[in-house]
Amino acid sequence: MDNKINDISNFYSAENGDFNYLYKDHIDFSKTLFEEVELIFKEYNVKSVIDCCCAVGNDLKYLSQKGYDVFGSDLSFDMANAATRSLNNENISAKIIQSDVLYINENTEEKFDLVIFRGNALGHLNNDEQKRAIDNLFRITKEKGLVFLDFRDGQTYHRKRKKIELRGYGNDKQHKKIYFSFYILKHPKSIFEQYKIKSKTLIFDYKKFRFKYVHGKIEANYVIFDSIIDRIKYNNGQILFKKTSSDGFPELQSLIILNNRSK
Ligand SMILES: C[S@@+](CC[C@H](N)C(=O)[O-])C[C@H]1O[C@@H](n2cnc3c(N)ncnc32)[C@H](O)[C@@H]1O
Repeated sequence: MDNKINDISNFYSAENGDFNYLYKDHIDFSKTLFEEVELIFKEYNVKSVIDCCCAVGNDLKYLSQKGYDVFGSDLSFDMANAATRSLNNENISAKIIQSDVLYINENTEEKFDLVIFRGNALGHLNNDEQKRAIDNLFRITKEKGLVFLDFRDGQTYHRKRKKIELRGYGNDKQHKKIYFSFYILKHPKSIFEQYKIKSKTLIFDYKKFRFKYVHGKIEANYVIFDSIIDRIKYNNGQILFKKTSSDGFPELQSLIILNNRSK
């Protein structure tokens, strides 16, 4: 397996619970964000949606329940399989493939009304790859369709240089588990270098009286807001919605962009 896929697959546990406990705040935030932007989807007549970094399929599940036709892809084979399982469990039929966003235009012949790339997945790509990813998202979006992107504002994130970031905690009463998750971060001096993330999730199953410790490490890139905006303009995209929030991921910028490209 190529190194990049390996690194990503090792960092994100494809166990639905592990992933959801690590990103609980982001998942909760995503639901309120989708509610907030639903009128934009209606106005632009969105019917088909692809999530190009779908992980365990949370956004796809939500959007399918709202009546959209959903498709998904993820770099990680494990994640693509986990999303398929999770959606099948809810009797949702969705085509989910393994694909790097950098090749998604070669791996699907369709174009979609809405193309999603959320959860700061851009941070897994270097600056040049981030541009190519944005071009590809536009390539698979129908004309007058929408691209929905979110990413951390790298400049603010780097300026704050947090060493620890609480990710989530709570009591999952349905599965009888208490969880606590956080990142340990190491920031370089230069914003053009990678920062290091160690993720830690502690899960206590109080039915079986068992502890589980899930951890991973990876290096990531700061996403420079202006460089993303420039690439959106290069693709003739028009920003319809912009929100800065710290509810899910710190310094998260969410953008919905209208695709004005004619081919
Ligand atoms: C933090 S998760 C975000 C998941 C989901 N989009 C969300 O917002 O909850 C990042 C996901 O991006 C995927 N990913 C990372 N690099 C990718 C790439 N180059 N192409 C496609 N998916 C990628 C990872 O495998 C992981 O499932």
